[in-house]
Formats: sequence, C-alpha cells, structure tokens
Amino acid sequence: MWHRRFPAGSERSERGSPAQSATPTSGRRHGIAARGLRARGFSGLAGLAILAAGCHADNRQSMLHPGGSAAAEIAWLTWFLIAVCGGVFVAVMALTAAAVWRRSETADAGESAESAADSESRKPPPASPVSPLGAGFIIVAGAVIPALILTVILVLSVKAQVALAPPESDITIRVVGHQFWWEVEYPETGIVTANELIIPAGEPVRLELSAADVIHSLWAPNLNGKTDLLPDKVNIAWLESDSPGVYRAQCAEYCGVQHALMALRIVALPRDEYDAWSETSQASDPEPATEPQRRGRDVYFRTGCHNCHAIAHTAATGRRGPDLTHFGSRLTIAAGVVPNTPENLREWIANPQGMKPGNLMPHTELTRDELDALVDYLMSLD
Ligand code: CUA
Repeated sequence: MWHRRFPAGSERSERGSPAQSATPTSGRRHGIAARGLRARGFSGLAGLAILAAGCHADNRQSMLHPGGSAAAEIAWLTWFLIAVCGGVFVAVMALTAAAVWRRSETADAGESAESAADSESRKPPPASPVSPLGAGFIIVAGAVIPALILTVILVLSVKAQVALAPPESDITIRVVGHQFWWEVEYPETGIVTANELIIPAGEPVRLELSAADVIHSLWAPNLNGKTDLLPDKVNIAWLESDSPGVYRAQCAEYCGVQHALMALRIVALPRDEYDAWSETSQASDPEPATEPQRRGRDVYFRTGCHNCHAIAHTAATGRRGPDLTHFGSRLTIAAGVVPNTPENLREWIANPQGMKPGNLMPHTELTRDELDALVDYLMSLD
C-alpha cells in the first residue's frame, strides 16, 4: 500500500511531558534567588535545546526549510528582513554607543576646566553641537536611509504577496477544522478522510478552508503560510510540495483546550502513487475476514460508534467525528497525538480523555473482548 513508504513508527509522539516547575514555597531570600538562577539556567538550556531542535537536519515543521515554492518565497523574505533589521540594529547601537562615549568625554573635559578655574569665574561647559557630522547626517541617516529601506521592504513584500496568490490547480480539496481534528474531503472523487492530507508532489493543490465550530488556522510551515478556517466563510489557500514526503501542519489559532494537539499530516506522493491512492480510497473497505473482526463490526454498530464516525459504503454515516474509512492506513490517531498502532488504538478507545483531555470523544464502556474485537475490526479497514 502507498502508506508503507511512510511508516507511522517514523513519526515521534507529540504528546508533551508535563511541564516541570520548581515553585519555591519556603526558604530564605538567597535560597529563592539561587533557585531563580537555576530556573533561569534551565530555561536557558531549554531555549538552546529548542533552538537546536529547530536547526535539526530533519527539517520537521520549519518555515526555514521550505519544501515548496510558496514556502521558499516566504523563507527568502524572512531571511532578507532578518538581515536588514539586524544591520539597522547594529548601526543604531553603534551610533548610540558613540554618542554616549562622546558625551562622557565632553563632561570630563568640562569638569577639569571647572576645577582649574577660579570659583568667581565659574562657567558651564560649552554646549555640544547637534552632531559632529552636521545636520546633513541627521537628514540622511534619520530620514533618507530609513525611507529607502522601508520602500525596498514594501516592494519586496508586495512581490511576495503576488507570488503567493493561488495558482491554477487541477485538484481542489476541502478542509474543515473541528475541535480538535481536521476533516479532509476530495469533492471530485467523494473521498473523505481525517487528519491526513494526501497530495500529489510537484503540482499546486487548491484548498477550500472552513470550520465547523470555532476559528482554526492551517499552517504547514514547510509548504506555505497560515490561513484561517472560519465558520461562516470559505477561505482559499494552496499547497505545493517540490518532492514526495510527509510534512507536519498544525492548527495555528487557539481553538480550545486541545488546540496544541491538533496536527495534520500532509503526505505528498509521486503522481502515479497519488492516482493509485485515489483509486484505492474510493473503493470499499474489505469485509471482515476473521471472527474477531466480525464481532468488532457488531460492536461498532451496537455501541453507537457509527453515529459519529462514518465508514464509506456501510450504514455508518455519522459525520460528528472523523471518518474512519480505510482507517488502518492512517499514520496517527487523535489528530497526530500517537502513531496508529493497535496498542495505541486500544488505549485511545478505552480512555480518550486520558490521552487527549478535553476532546469530544465520549467514553464507551466495553469489555476486554469487545475492545480487542473493535480494534481488530478498525485496523482491518485498509
Ligand atoms: Cu484548531 Cu487551534
């Protein structure tokens, strides 16, 4: 199958470990100060670790490692702005330092002249001129150069804006944001999936973005900038991946308690593999082949899973939760929280709130045997 090229095991779990904090509850001031220093040291190390992770060669979810033309345009403009603003910062700091140094020298000269003179002939030190370089320097450095820099930035920003306009595309995909998962629909073929966006590599894909509840925002930093998903309006965005690969996207607008665990995998396939995936995905899931799988299907319909989770070409038509057609081929569970394995699926169904507190999946009381059978059935949807 197409997905075997991108095994779920290659993706790390994104569940963060609980934040560790050292809140002083007692002790002398110096003890607290020492702990404060240690805390700052830890946060400094954590900052370095995050920086190092951001620079890691796997280029995971980073706008500084573009995988497509739109992201390349954004990355280029970003580096240009960093260079220009960095240069301006260094120049202003150098001028400030020079002004402070010159002022202290003038004050020293004034003080020594004052002490040498008789008390009756005391006079204030001579006033310093506006600038040793003259008023022309103020006009050039304070007005002309900033105006030129801002004009160049404006022109390049408008150029980038034009380059980021959605191009012509053969493929349109609808993406609907839910608390806290992504519904993905291919209108031309009727394919519906969740938390995974399969696209052909090397060609632009048009996205129609909307939301089912609150405002979300789609951000695949390796491929393009952010676009909001609104409940009352369809926003148009586009993605293009230069080469096949898996990219991670993330909800970028706070949408509730599990906003941080609302991830989307974007899988870019060579065109022939994309066509094969599209063909396979329109077909029915295989009928349950074993007795446990058949019992699992019974559990699915008897306990009401089908009221929220659709499976194409079956009586399961609920759209409240993610569509589970071909679920066995998905990379992750619960919008990127853990890799899609039977063990993780068992844990997820048994206690959804334990794995992703605040999500809308209800707890279902199942016996051990029912749970095993249900997991067997869902993993067989391939
Ligand atoms: Cu959806 Cu944040």
